[in-house]
Amino acid sequence: MTELSAMILDRIRDVPDYPQPGVMFKDITPLLADPVAMAAVVEELAGLHQVDKIVGIEARGFILAAPVAYRAGAGFVPVRKKGKLPAATLEESYDLEYGSATIEVHRDAFAPGDRVLIVDDVLATGGTAKAAVDLVERAGATVAGLAVLMELAFLKGRDRLTGVDLHSLVIV
Ligand code: PRP
Repeated sequence: MTELSAMILDRIRDVPDYPQPGVMFKDITPLLADPVAMAAVVEELAGLHQVDKIVGIEARGFILAAPVAYRAGAGFVPVRKKGKLPAATLEESYDLEYGSATIEVHRDAFAPGDRVLIVDDVLATGGTAKAAVDLVERAGATVAGLAVLMELAFLKGRDRLTGVDLHSLVIV
């Protein structure tokens, strides 16, 4: 394990039975509160790819993606839960354990051919990430990579992301 991975792992707190019984929630707030660890994370993510835009996935992905965009000299684009973006959008739905969810991006968020890095905090089942990849591609951009702080390998989200250059700073 790298020094960065160890630093991240040490600052992501397991909260049992949140938001519902049986779920172990990965709480990144201790990492966010540590400026040295955050600076190291932002440096790492900003150096992964030469891109035009950094996409953050609501909500925790925003917190990471915005400083990465600033550091990389790239634009920031939000992918939001349905109904939150004001102008014309594209949308993608994906299955949850019970029911489904929909995320959106503005139709004009990208210039044709923009290269994009998608950033989120956790990759679990991969449903959110796959929907985000599909949205970005439908909006006319190219996904250079997808980066997450933590990948929960037992949920096999990676298997839904064939062909995507996935960077997980910690795999558990
Ligand atoms: C969490 C997490 C990822 C997603 C991962 O977001 O931040 O976006 O779930 O799960 P998946 O790989 O199974 O799709 P959540 O929907 O809880 O939204 P939040 O950040 O707004 O709390």
